Amino acid sequence: MAKWIEGKVVRLRQWTSELYSVQVEADIAPFTAGQFNRLALEIDGEMVARPYSFVNGPDNPLHEFYFITVKDGPLTAELIKLQTGDSLYLAPKAAGFFILNEVPDAETLWMLSTGTAIGPFLSILSTDEVWQRFSNIVLVHAVRTAEELVYQDVIRELVEGHSDQLCFIPFVSRQETDFAISGRVPHAIEDGRLEQRAGLKLTLENSQVMICGNPAMVRDTQGVLEARGLKKNRRRDPGHITTEQYWKD
Ligand SMILES: Cc1cc2nc3c(=O)[nH]c(=O)nc-3n(C[C@H](O)[C@H](O)[C@H](O)COP(=O)(O)OP(=O)(O)OC[C@H]3O[C@@H](n4cnc5c(N)ncnc54)[C@H](O)[C@@H]3O)c2cc1C
Ligand SMILES: NC(=O)c1ccc[n+]([C@@H]2O[C@H](COP(=O)([O-])OP(=O)(O)OC[C@H]3O[C@@H](n4cnc5c(N)ncnc54)[C@H](OP(=O)(O)O)[C@@H]3O)[C@@H](O)[C@H]2O)c1
Repeated sequence: MAKWIEGKVVRLRQWTSELYSVQVEADIAPFTAGQFNRLALEIDGEMVARPYSFVNGPDNPLHEFYFITVKDGPLTAELIKLQTGDSLYLAPKAAGFFILNEVPDAETLWMLSTGTAIGPFLSILSTDEVWQRFSNIVLVHAVRTAEELVYQDVIRELVEGHSDQLCFIPFVSRQETDFAISGRVPHAIEDGRLEQRAGLKLTLENSQVMICGNPAMVRDTQGVLEARGLKKNRRRDPGHITTEQYWKD
């Protein structure tokens, strides 16, 4: 099997000074919502590759990835220069276990994301399975400033299409707003603000929690949930918490 599949950039979209998404056509194997692929570019004669979660659902052939440019980040510095028609390389097959197959049934699915990690949840929310399996779904997007609350049109459409099932809760930590919860997700679980806003209880009897993004947020949130008796999902020992970290801290 070829190591890389050459894709063609359809569009690079800039959302803020640091946030971008790229749409790419590439003939890769089917994937499962929540998985990631590897994006690669040749930089100084070497292929530099990093994992990125699909934002599009598996039924959408136009692949989309949402990313932040990080200081001195070798790949993102080049990704932001891409133009329509440029080559962008993908791995032939997607990978990853941040998928619904790994999540047991429950009444409520809590999807907790920071920053760019909203992507895999949008992919999962585009599937039929998620709406069939969970009576309630709470989508949380925690960002620093309000302008980082991206994909609002997609989220609005999801909420309108599933108004009795989906609740979207934004968190903004470094700006006062009159619509978002302020501060951080673990604190809002501890003091009850998240459940109050959702109008739902987060208990080990009724909930599954998927957490994605900043490793410190993943760790801190997991700690707060474990203090309530929830535990990590393992294949041979099902629990309530499924996680994916975007980098190591
Ligand atoms: C399973 C998986 C899925 C991922 N999916 C995405 C995705 O959908 N979108 C995305 O932007 N990144 C994602 N990442 C991170 C991505 O692979 C790269 O690390 C990132 O784009 C930076 O690449 P770089 O070469 O520019 O710098 P790197 O040398 O890879 O990273 C430098 C530093 O930047 C910080 N950083 C990396 N990624 C992020 C991020 N997403 N948000 C905030 N800070 C970050 C970390 O401190 C890291 O050590 C994912 C990582 C994993 C493991
Ligand atoms: N976003 C930007 O505008 C910007 C600009 C320049 C550089 N960067 C760089 O890009 C990287 C990522 O930025 P980002 O904004 O996407 O992601 P981020 O730093 O992961 O922040 C996203 C959200 O996660 C929260 N968070 C951080 N640690 C947490 C924890 N332990 N528990 C719970 N919540 C936590 C943040 O709250 P807090 O605000 O309380 O930390 C914020 O609300 C950083 O390395 C940053 O230096 C970002």
